Amino acid sequence: MDDVRAGSQWSMMRLRPVVVSVFLTVTVGYYVYTPLPESIQEPWRLMVVSAGLRTSVHLSSVINWLGYDHYIRSVRQLSESFYGLTKSGDSTESGGGVVPGVKVSDITFAGVPVRVYEPPAGGEGHLRRGLMYFHGGDWLLGSAERWSNDALNHMVSDELNTVVVSVEYRLYPEVRFPVPYLDCLAAAKHFLSAEVLAKYSIDPERVAVSGASVGGNLAAAVAQGISTDDAVSVKFSIQALIYPMLQALDFNTPSYLQNQDVPVLYRGLAVRFWLQYLGVDLSLQPQLLVNNHSSSHHVSPELRARVNWTTLLPLRFKKNHRPVAVDKGSQRLVKEVPALLDARASPLLAGPEVLAKCPRAYVLTCENDVLRDDGLMYARRLQDAGVTVTSSHYDDGFHGCFSFIVWPVEFDIGKRLVRGYITWLQNNL
Ligand SMILES: *[C@@H]1O[C@H](CO)[C@@H](O)[C@H](O)[C@H]1NC(C)=O
Ligand SMILES: *[C@@H]1O[C@H](CO)[C@@H](O)[C@H](O)[C@H]1NC(C)=O
Repeated sequence: MDDVRAGSQWSMMRLRPVVVSVFLTVTVGYYVYTPLPESIQEPWRLMVVSAGLRTSVHLSSVINWLGYDHYIRSVRQLSESFYGLTKSGDSTESGGGVVPGVKVSDITFAGVPVRVYEPPAGGEGHLRRGLMYFHGGDWLLGSAERWSNDALNHMVSDELNTVVVSVEYRLYPEVRFPVPYLDCLAAAKHFLSAEVLAKYSIDPERVAVSGASVGGNLAAAVAQGISTDDAVSVKFSIQALIYPMLQALDFNTPSYLQNQDVPVLYRGLAVRFWLQYLGVDLSLQPQLLVNNHSSSHHVSPELRARVNWTTLLPLRFKKNHRPVAVDKGSQRLVKEVPALLDARASPLLAGPEVLAKCPRAYVLTCENDVLRDDGLMYARRLQDAGVTVTSSHYDDGFHGCFSFIVWPVEFDIGKRLVRGYITWLQNNL
């Protein structure tokens, strides 16, 4: 008897860790598991990344609730530390010394902090290309120093013999629109001045503006601002927009509906980021989700036509979706938030006369991204205005993957996007 009991106790003791670990695995699996579109490769990796981001947001809400700090500042710190994307204090050591030949300096352009990457000088009188870069991060996260941005700009500078200027525009909650736009515009004007181009030996005919996500929004808006400003004599020669966020009038485009639950940019989050950027009360989110802010009563047909996906999208992206157009909606919104109709915030709203002046464009879009149709519509409208556009669409891409290029958040698709981007710049800048 004793032997039997000892035996069963023994097996219980051996079993307990197994039970606990199965329980933990199931719990963690349940927390991490997210259904994803089939075209996404390395799905588990993306699930872990999105669970990490979710955890940062949850922890930050707790910190905010406890009254320690604004939750966004906590999200910033947690998400940076979660991925080991640590800031480097010493700029010359940044990016883990990815490219030894590139000189990095943290300075200011017209009072705006920028990080400048200079490839080794190519000899007397040898002119180089220039590129201004605006990072993504929903107008509230990210920095030029962040490892993925830093690694990208090192690469571009080195491989294309280009002087890259990465702009540290101010973020929410410290500032709102139009401050980030004005920071970027001021830095751009300074960059394009004759003195600065000469100082860095940059060919004035070969200067690009570029950015990803909200950085693509800023790049498109700044390209429009520079192109239409007669006081600026040197213009950007190309614009490269990576899954840009371009409009806040229709949150029911086919891509917004199709990808509403696809990480890392969920539809609800995208609307929230717009509200924060434009300084709108967050309680109005449900109105925007049903397009109550863009009814025919307060948005002119002319403006509405500029974001009308039923006419602007190629057939294969429309699928069976129906437009959500509201007759009455909410009067309040557009009246109280004129920024909703401001093309400096929503570059897709610019008129054809503005677009016609814009530089040649590269517009990268991902199938599994709420912003896919923003990019596709902008590419189409630029083309209609007579601008040469390269529209580069990735069927297996998802929002954010362009920055998932350095360990520990490294995706094959991210590296392919970056390769495509650099190749296009190589051939067109
Ligand atoms: C979009 O364009 C179609 C076709 O011209 C038109 O029938 C529809 O009313 C437009 N939608 C909006 C919201 O303006
Ligand atoms: C949208 O506007 C309509 C008409 O004003 C209103 O009845 C409806 O409740 C609004 N929807 C939301 C989600 O606020």
